[in-house]
Amino acid sequence: MTEQPANTANTMWGGRFAAGPDAIMEAINASIGFDQRLYAQDIRGSRAHAAMLAAQGIISTSDAEAIGKGLLTVLSEIEKGDFAFSTALEDIHMNVESRLKEVIGEPAGRLHTARSRNDQVATDFRLWVRDQCDAAIAGLDALIRAALAQAEAGTDWVMPGFTHLQTAQPVTWGHHMMAYVEMFGRDLSRFQDARRRMNESPLGAAALAGTGFPIDRHATAAALGFDRPMANSLDAVSDRDFALEYLSTAAICAVHLSRLAEELVIWSSAQFRFVTMSDRFSTGSSIMPQKKNPDAAELIRAKIGRILGAAVALFVVMKGLPLAYSKDMQEDKEQVFDASDNLMLALAAMTGMLSDLHANRDRLEAAAGSGFSTATDLADWLVREAGLPFRDAHHVTGALVAMAEKQGSDLPDLTLAQMQSVHPALTDDVYNVLGVHNSVASRTSYGGTAPAQVRAQIARWKEKLA
Ligand code: ARG
Repeated sequence: MTEQPANTANTMWGGRFAAGPDAIMEAINASIGFDQRLYAQDIRGSRAHAAMLAAQGIISTSDAEAIGKGLLTVLSEIEKGDFAFSTALEDIHMNVESRLKEVIGEPAGRLHTARSRNDQVATDFRLWVRDQCDAAIAGLDALIRAALAQAEAGTDWVMPGFTHLQTAQPVTWGHHMMAYVEMFGRDLSRFQDARRRMNESPLGAAALAGTGFPIDRHATAAALGFDRPMANSLDAVSDRDFALEYLSTAAICAVHLSRLAEELVIWSSAQFRFVTMSDRFSTGSSIMPQKKNPDAAELIRAKIGRILGAAVALFVVMKGLPLAYSKDMQEDKEQVFDASDNLMLALAAMTGMLSDLHANRDRLEAAAGSGFSTATDLADWLVREAGLPFRDAHHVTGALVAMAEKQGSDLPDLTLAQMQSVHPALTDDVYNVLGVHNSVASRTSYGGTAPAQVRAQIARWKEKLA
């Protein structure tokens, strides 16, 4: 850069240019403001490329050694914060290469042989997104363990189960927590799937058509931990499926996080008091001294907005793009950066909240029995013990609920005489199924809420995570 005054043609591609770019052109074109986050992947990719060029006899071993060493110098400068990123140099690729030239001189100019920024950026970004899959997998693993610990602590604690947010049937705390273990488990496996599918190397596709140099794409793929090189050079430089898959998977995960966050917000309210959040994950109000707000849960609930927003933004950017590379694709990175920053924060915050969460067992149990939650058990009793068709049993039970509601009581408070006035087949035995503990214990079907079933699922998950 030194031999040319500022604001003239770019030394990286300026051969055919008489004048430098307009300031606005530079502003819209530059990506260094955000793609500097790819510096480690960019340098890793370049080192693999240079080593391969030497192994293939395309550049000399001494040049490759100088390049490899020089790139490490650049890496440490960036890591120490000693690197001056330049907008005139557009992006991370040209910033690194330009600094390499200052550090090692002439051999730096040989690094870009048989390579283009198109396969370079596709490689860097793929490596970065692959790391983010690994980070999400680790984050989900920790979250699953936290939910599992909650499930284990309260496997047979009873609580109301809801449909339409109306009391439906009693369930166990363990069962409810394990529902989230299943959801986060699917998220984890989706990140694993996405990682496996994206783990192919675009490097060596060059600008779009491949190259005439005798490169070894298998070698660079292996050096970068990819399973194989991508099979079509046009696809290699224009594919952003890996980013779309990451964002889609992140969005589904964020939906799950938002549902649990919403339940924590509801459950921690004064009206529910199902759970108490720790001070560490709550905030106060500057005006109302009594307040303890579930801000972290609310923010987690909201994160789906920007994460899904990022997914939608990139889908729209990619839609209708002709092959191969177009500059539109530079708009991929900020979306993924923002989504992954926020997903990781939300996963960590949810893990912390869940680990600290105190479930109020007595309060859960008291709520479990209210709202006629065992009405279905009563109907089932009529089917089982009195031989009624389910529809008739449903009707009889409905009449009993109406009777209890009218006198302001729950089902177990009705006298046997009152019950028998609605149906003569009812006996004392029915009171057994009206208790919430008996109710949950009876739901022994596979995946049901019975503590024995929940314990089996907890054991399965512990084995899976071990
Ligand atoms: N900064 C660019 C991006 O993020 C790198 C690739 C540029 N390629 C090109 N042909 N201009 O997409």
